[in-house]
Amino acid sequence: MMGLGKVIALAVSVGLVVGLAAAGPSKKEQKELDAKNNWWKNEVFYQIYPRSFQDSDGDGIGDLPGITSKLEYFKETGITAVWMSPIFESPMVDFGYDISNYTNIQPEYGTLEDFDALIAKANELGIKVILDFVPNHSSNKHPWFAKSIAREAGYEDFYVWENGTLLENGTRVPPNNWRSVFSGSAWEWNEERGQFYLRQFTYAQPDLNYRNPAVVQAMDDTLLYWLNRGVAGFRIDAVIYIYEDEQLRDEPLSGTTSDPNSFDYLEHIYTKNQKEGYTLLQHWRQLLDNYSSSNEGPLRIMMTEGYAPLADLMDYYEDAQGVLGPEFPFNFDFIGELNADSLAADFVFYIQRWLIYMPHGHVANWVMGNHDNSRVASRFGAQTVDAMNMLMMTLPGIGVTYYGEELGMLDYRDISWEQTVDQPACDAGIDNYKWISRDPERTPMQWSDEPNAGFSSSDQTWLPVHPNYKELNLRNQQQAERSHYKIYQSLLKLRKQEALKKGAFIPGVLNRRVFAFKREIQGQNTLLTIINVKNQTEQLDITDFIDLPNRLHVLVAGVDSAHTAGERLNPQEISLAPYEGLVIQLSKRK
Ligand code: GLC
Ligand code: MG
Repeated sequence: MMGLGKVIALAVSVGLVVGLAAAGPSKKEQKELDAKNNWWKNEVFYQIYPRSFQDSDGDGIGDLPGITSKLEYFKETGITAVWMSPIFESPMVDFGYDISNYTNIQPEYGTLEDFDALIAKANELGIKVILDFVPNHSSNKHPWFAKSIAREAGYEDFYVWENGTLLENGTRVPPNNWRSVFSGSAWEWNEERGQFYLRQFTYAQPDLNYRNPAVVQAMDDTLLYWLNRGVAGFRIDAVIYIYEDEQLRDEPLSGTTSDPNSFDYLEHIYTKNQKEGYTLLQHWRQLLDNYSSSNEGPLRIMMTEGYAPLADLMDYYEDAQGVLGPEFPFNFDFIGELNADSLAADFVFYIQRWLIYMPHGHVANWVMGNHDNSRVASRFGAQTVDAMNMLMMTLPGIGVTYYGEELGMLDYRDISWEQTVDQPACDAGIDNYKWISRDPERTPMQWSDEPNAGFSSSDQTWLPVHPNYKELNLRNQQQAERSHYKIYQSLLKLRKQEALKKGAFIPGVLNRRVFAFKREIQGQNTLLTIINVKNQTEQLDITDFIDLPNRLHVLVAGVDSAHTAGERLNPQEISLAPYEGLVIQLSKRK
């Protein structure tokens, strides 16, 4: 929780900005302060993958003017905050996660003017923009790296350089056994400097050395640069990899795979989640908080990416001493822990687990998909799309939607080897690329049934459009009486209700296949979400769970549901089709 001193400090400085007298804020000022500091706590953050969202200039690659031209779409949908995967200058070995200039826009995406225009339009529409910040590594084409190779003064230690050993037979052996996340040694030989550099991802992503204060300073400057250009915060990439053991100790074998190239070969006790990483994020939190309190506009926030054990993630919210880190670490349980085989109890267990472990006073979040993982409709099944959106939207806290999941877009797994561009998939080779590749979840947004799904006027797009776009597209779903999109939209509207913002969370496992939860403000309003996670029709008596006497009305039902919004339900006989979800209004019997 925010220390009281800090809350007051923030309140006072915000007060100064809005011209407050020392007497304390008036009602109106209190409201403004609340909006400033708490805007993010019930947001749905929509992830844009810029390369695949909308192409404005016909080169087959999405770009910033394309995104700007679609901002109205967010407004219409009810989305008020977006986060964008990297848009900075990059050789695109890892599609922007290899940055060669942190303060300029990738030319195929546009210019700084285009960026400013995007922010201006977003402001006009009340949409906040979060940028992706990639601190762990730069591109090997960043001028810093060239200077570091050349041992130019001030840059010698910008990256993690080590000698390794030269065997008598002339073989060079890396400094230790560390593996890259994408496979193989994490050390890459550089002939010119005559040393190995550390790279936890691809060869083109040398790890920056955060034990060098000049690197921290350069990154602080980067954050300030984008803050000054009007962003509402940052999604921070790969935070668990920022520091490694200073003594470079070998990692123990995990025993889970016999493939020595696999990342899973080792137990990552020296390359993941090192203590110093928390301190760095706490420092950035301070930087953002200071910026927010001395400038107008919303609290600038941080959300962090890290696939880590729960206890480690919780320390990002706030460490054992109560020092604050990012506003929230992404919760990937719907991606990593739950899948099509999960039972109702598994869902309730993982949801509860996050809420139980989360330090008091913090905000939960639920990430349904992203550019590194198979899409919801492909992971859980196409029939589950509405139920999963109902789930995400009615749980307490923040939802995170990956573009296209409001339509139920599917992975396009049948991308050919020739069309494959994701680096780890290319490295895996023709026999293994298919299930490793992240291209399937990155195909262009399906706007309409026009050529290239309305994404681009080019003959060829950077990744093929999913061939199902003729049926599965936004325009169809806008025109249809019922659609995933319309359900998504109605859920966003529903989120304005206090019960979904502040209501208590009361879950129940109704049977192996069905779970439910109430969101309740006692004596005022209660909503109920019921979800069937299996391929079986259910007849349920939920009187025990809902505490009669109550009246039940359907608020949101799925595309293929036999139920309709407004329908009255009998709690003794609720029928749920396979994978059906329902959001229901409970009201006291008059
Ligand atoms: C993160 C990104 C992923 C990228 C990696 C290296 O995991 O989400 O796309 O490949 O970091 O930057
Ligand atoms: Mg373009």
